Amino acid sequence: MAKRFKEVTSVNLYPERPNFKWIVLILSFTIGVGSIVYTNDLVKKIRERERKQIDLYARTLEYVANDQDDPNVAFMLEEIIQANKTIPVILTDQHGNPEDYKNLPKVNDFDSPKERRAYLLKEVEEMKELREPIVLTLLDSDNQIYGYKFIYYKNSSLLTELRFYPYVQLSVIAIFVFIAFVVFNYSRSAEQNRVWVGLAKETAHQLGTPLSSLMAWVEYFRATYPDQEEIINELNKDIERLERITERFSSIGSVPQLKEENVYNLVQEVVKYLEKRLSTKVSISVTVFPDDEISANINHALFAWVIENLLKNAVDSMEGKGQIFIKILQVNEGRVAIDVTDTGKGIPKNRINQIFTPGFTTKKRGWGLGLTLTKRIIEHYHKGKIYIKETEIGKGTTFRILLRS
Ligand SMILES: Nc1ncnc2c1ncn2[C@@H]1O[C@H](COP(=O)(O)OP(=O)(O)OP(=O)(O)O)[C@@H](O)[C@H]1O
Ligand SMILES: [Mg+2]
Repeated sequence: MAKRFKEVTSVNLYPERPNFKWIVLILSFTIGVGSIVYTNDLVKKIRERERKQIDLYARTLEYVANDQDDPNVAFMLEEIIQANKTIPVILTDQHGNPEDYKNLPKVNDFDSPKERRAYLLKEVEEMKELREPIVLTLLDSDNQIYGYKFIYYKNSSLLTELRFYPYVQLSVIAIFVFIAFVVFNYSRSAEQNRVWVGLAKETAHQLGTPLSSLMAWVEYFRATYPDQEEIINELNKDIERLERITERFSSIGSVPQLKEENVYNLVQEVVKYLEKRLSTKVSISVTVFPDDEISANINHALFAWVIENLLKNAVDSMEGKGQIFIKILQVNEGRVAIDVTDTGKGIPKNRINQIFTPGFTTKKRGWGLGLTLTKRIIEHYHKGKIYIKETEIGKGTTFRILLRS
């Protein structure tokens, strides 16, 4: 089967760099995972340290509570209790009444002692959910237990923030990469646009001068050699053809004017024009549904170019022998479909995604630009769609164009 297709010669106009994409992706992933693992490790270490600090804090309180005469107490109070400037702590009696707190700056938002107490109780509840409190045992002078106190604590805000840090960091990186990607793609397509438009404009411009000179020559011949009517008519046809090409190029090089046009008439015009140049072994039929009054917003010169490209490809795929069916359908309000079906060799599945890329061709003398241009005219200038509706190897292909009416 594969032998039926000629070797693919592809002029790679826009080389992709898939390897590059993969490297960036793998690198980003490694950095992402690495950053999370590292931060989690850091969080674990800091949490352990905070726990030890609290433990020391608790022991100090216990000591102070049980042995108030020791001269070292003042030092310990200063050094250890005051040193905790990050970990939020609440000290309660054995019934859960808050007696003291540290590193809870929000307490100052409340004016009345009642509100403060309510706030502290709420904090105690939250801390209780997170961790078991540290228990202080109170001893009297005979070393008999006479009561308990509880120390509730939670992560310092540093630790909390650190835990979310890698996710914030990753989101920022992801947003940045996304924006960079969009900008890159946009500038790439803007660049392509400029090339297309600039080249087309220049071509139209360059063709204009010799064309008007040729027209003048034909008029001169007509006047000078009235008996050479036939040759002059042939010359005129060539000039018309050149004019048509110039018009196409100049339309693609500017913002094209769309006009409400009868689709059937336009398609017929192109078919009539091409039929004269095709072998008699190719038949083209045009049908309309529901009636031939279907119209759409079209740029005449460009749309004729589209139909011509599709018909030429169809003829090529049938190797000069077969049938082409063009169906014009009003699919629903405001949408017109034009299906171009051939009885040619079909398109292999793995090529369907390639045929619209610039430079892709399976033909010896092809440029691989016909469908690129066609897609561009339909999508860019007419805001429509073009795609392969159906294709089967050895049976044929149907292209569908969707236009707005
Ligand atoms: N109707 C079709 N049936 C089968 N293959 C097709 C058909 N239309 C297009 N193709 C395939 O898609 C390829 C690209 O088509 P395209 O019109 O873009 O370029 P081309 O016809 O090869 O060259 P040119 O620039 O002269 O049009 C063709 O080479 C052909 O392999
Ligand atoms: Mg082509």
